[in-house]
Amino acid sequence: MDRDTAVPQVDSLPGERAREWVEYHRENAAPSTYVYDFVWDITEDAEGPFCTDADGNVLLDFTSHVAAAPLGYNNPKIMDRMREFDLVDPLKIAGQDFYASGGDDPGEEELPGPAGLMQRLVDITDHYDMDTVFLSNSGAEAVENAIKIAYDESDGAKYGVTFEGAFHGRTLGALSLNRSKSVYRRKFPEVSGIVDLPFCDDRTCSADSCSCGFFPDDESAASRLRRKLDPDRGHVDPEDVAYVIVEPIQGEGGYRIPSDAFMDELAALVDEHDITLVADEIQSGVGRTGKMWGADHFAIEPDVITSAKALRVGATISRTDVFPERKSRLSSTWGAGDIIASLQGALTLDAIHEYDLMDNAVARGRQFTETLSDAALDAVVDVRGKGLMLGVEFDTKERRNAVQEACLQSGLLTLACGYKVLRVLPPLDVTEREIELGATLLAEAIEDCS
Ligand SMILES: Cc1ncc(COP(=O)(O)O)c(C=O)c1O
Repeated sequence: MDRDTAVPQVDSLPGERAREWVEYHRENAAPSTYVYDFVWDITEDAEGPFCTDADGNVLLDFTSHVAAAPLGYNNPKIMDRMREFDLVDPLKIAGQDFYASGGDDPGEEELPGPAGLMQRLVDITDHYDMDTVFLSNSGAEAVENAIKIAYDESDGAKYGVTFEGAFHGRTLGALSLNRSKSVYRRKFPEVSGIVDLPFCDDRTCSADSCSCGFFPDDESAASRLRRKLDPDRGHVDPEDVAYVIVEPIQGEGGYRIPSDAFMDELAALVDEHDITLVADEIQSGVGRTGKMWGADHFAIEPDVITSAKALRVGATISRTDVFPERKSRLSSTWGAGDIIASLQGALTLDAIHEYDLMDNAVARGRQFTETLSDAALDAVVDVRGKGLMLGVEFDTKERRNAVQEACLQSGLLTLACGYKVLRVLPPLDVTEREIELGATLLAEAIEDCS
């Protein structure tokens, strides 16, 4: 496959072999959340956003596996370096009981494992004074550990603050913070004391013109969070708040970008009351938005960052003083030990710097939003995004679903989120030609469904 000339080519989706593979998979798999009966054939051609499915269809994948494959498929930008290493063994050591060396002097190693990844993570969170990382296996674990260290640091304060539309994972602690869909929480026990507040996602909102509910519509212009924490009027003592957790740009909740007024107020309040601010960057981090972290677009200064997906491991990043000192308070068998995953994460960060991929994300994201906005499609209510974290909001959920299916049939993979939003996540090195292809296929699909 030549990435410079490849185009999506679809005969039928799902084809016969795809159906067989799906059936085989489902024989023993728990019913889960697979979006399409799309089966990537790992033995066939794939590069960047292009891949071949089990029936030989060529697809343009603008999902980047929900930001977990930030460079798409078989990208030479990391694969060439991975191939330099003789990865003959599974190379998975039991993470946090042992250490691994890359053979060279520490810090100079050509094979960056967990230590090399943590060093890189500290480099890119230095502007928030972060110097310490706990590696785990998934985003949910990164969140679990973030709230654990926040409870620990605050001596077990009883409240956590989350926002409407939030999604932070599916383990019991993390799901307690979710406020997107009831399916994530229904019938499951939860961490107590989680307070939720509106997430102000109207880009035009200011404190006195807000229509999102975070700033109530009355003369005081004090936000709901400020009122809750107010010593005279509020019912929550700031000392009892262990953390506020926020996605700088909401993911599952609908690719919602907060207003500056909201983020300014959040920054001011956590500063005033010395509350630990956790930024969940599991979807928005690692260059996806055109900056390394979604938080970098706003006034907030997180005390803890959670990352995962694009890193291939989970990471809870903060300052030494926030982490408990006592051994065994945090640990995970495979946490820091998955050398191949850590290597991939570290090489991804290297590639982002080496190939200026954040600049590319900004330029290509702009190209996408301009192309779709210029098409002036009636069914589209909003086209938004930062970098390559792009959302297209429709007039109805049914239309969004129909457009997603029409895209698939023309060979463009996209994902849904929120109530009626389609999310588009091209790889960070997506080219002008590929954006043109994808945006055109999407615009055609929208017209067909209108
Ligand atoms: C913002 C956010 N937090 C947490 C998670 C949970 O990550 P994981 O699925 O790796 O547990 C996700 C996953 O989509 C996410 O988008």
